[in-house]
Amino acid sequence: MAARRAVDFVDDGMAIGLGTGTTATLFIHQLAQRVTQGLKVRCVASSKASHDLAVSLSIPMTSFDETPVLDLAVDGADEVGPDLALIKGGGGALLREKIVISAARRFLVIVDAGKQVLQLGRFPLPVEVIRMALPIVTPKLLALGVQPHLRASADGSPFLTDEGNYIVDCACGQIESPEALAASIRSVVGVVEHGLFLHMASAAIVGYAGHVVELSV
Ligand code: A5P
Repeated sequence: MAARRAVDFVDDGMAIGLGTGTTATLFIHQLAQRVTQGLKVRCVASSKASHDLAVSLSIPMTSFDETPVLDLAVDGADEVGPDLALIKGGGGALLREKIVISAARRFLVIVDAGKQVLQLGRFPLPVEVIRMALPIVTPKLLALGVQPHLRASADGSPFLTDEGNYIVDCACGQIESPEALAASIRSVVGVVEHGLFLHMASAAIVGYAGHVVELSV
C-alpha cells in the first residue's frame, strides 16, 4: 500500500531515483504500471538489481550525465526513527542509494509499520568498507563502541557491493546520537559510507494493515 501510494507523488515529466530492496521493488512495479498507462518519467537506479528490473519493465532510464538533478527519490529503509532519521543498507546498496537520494530534491521513504522505532539501533548499522582497509577499519569501529561483523553471501564468501566493497554490519545498541556516530564512523579512513541517512528524507509513507500513514519532517 505504501508503494502504491508513493506513485501518486510522481508527476508527468519527473526524473525519479529508484531505491533498492523488497519495498522499493514494489514501487518499481507500481511505477511501471503507470508508465504503460502513459506516464512519462526517466529514472536512475540505486543498484544493478533495480536498474535491471526497471529496464525489464520498460521504464525509461537515464544517467547522472544526462540528468544530474532528480525530482524525487523513493526508497525503503531498515529503520525509521524520530525526525525521519533512517538506517539503510540491509540490501547492501547504501552507497549508491545515498548518492541517488543526495541528487534528489525530495526523498520519499516507504516502509511497513514494523520499521518504525523510537530510537535507531535495533537494526545493525551497515557500513561500506574498502576491501584492503578491512583489517585496519575493524579495530577502529570496535574502538567506537560498535560490534562489527563482516557480511557474508549465501555461499559464505564476503558479500560485495555493486562497487566491489565489503559491508560490515555494526551492532550498535540504542544509538543515542546518530549525528555523532555518523561523524565518527565517517572519519575512519577506509570507510566509504555508512547506513545512517540523517536529514535526508522529506516524507515517509508507513504501511499498516489496511491503511497508510504519511509523515513529514
Ligand atoms: C538496501 O540497501 C536497503 O537500504 C533497503 O532500502 C532497505 O534495506 C529496505 O529493504 P526492504 O524494503 O527489503 O526491507
